[in-house]
Amino acid sequence: MLEIDILAVVPGLLEGPFSHSILHRAEEKKLLKVRVIDLRTFGYGNHKQIDDYAFGGGAGMVLMAQPLADAIRMLQSQGQYDEIIYLTPDGKTFNQHMANHLSLKSRLLLICGHYKGIDERVREKFVTMEISIGDYVLSGGELAAAVVVDAIGRLIPGVLSDETSALTDSFQDDLLAPPVYTRPAEWEGMTVPDILLSGHQAKIDEWRYEQSLERTRDRRPDLLAREDSL
Ligand code: ADE
Repeated sequence: MLEIDILAVVPGLLEGPFSHSILHRAEEKKLLKVRVIDLRTFGYGNHKQIDDYAFGGGAGMVLMAQPLADAIRMLQSQGQYDEIIYLTPDGKTFNQHMANHLSLKSRLLLICGHYKGIDERVREKFVTMEISIGDYVLSGGELAAAVVVDAIGRLIPGVLSDETSALTDSFQDDLLAPPVYTRPAEWEGMTVPDILLSGHQAKIDEWRYEQSLERTRDRRPDLLAREDSL
């Protein structure tokens, strides 16, 4: 069972993604439990303030240290986390290796930033891993958290059936997946490669591997050159 807590500023953004298809099934099978916590409940005063102006000036607000620390400590009192992950554009770019690694953990906390980010001292004190989902800036970390949870959730042992096995995914062996086809064998004058209809499984596997290599060389040569680390 993997428990993922998400500390969010806009929890409503996370209502949809986990109530459908594979992740929903994972939750039903008790292999995954996702809980969204609203940071604002830890805010100050009548307005439940969670952000303030940046020291040194400049546009944009910063999430204050205290509400974040209060939330994190309350959650930690319910059990220790394997990783406390801050979603941020200046984090390490998320990839399949990180997803595989995280899918084997038992308790994760994802912290969603907003505005200009969170007070740096919270990163120093609590955060053990910083993840970006790509070189672009989202309005908050919630959608990034949804991406990370989806990628991790489907890899938890027992979540996927054989038909949807993650072993043949793109990136799983640092190669892009080969092209796929389904019925009919001829569609609008376009046919399926003969080899796929041949019934020779070993030859089909070889063809798929060749296609994967060719695709990767053509579209993502960087994957072939990559020395992977987490
Ligand atoms: N928050 C804002 N932009 C982000 C990104 N690209 N990845 C992760 N978290 C973010």
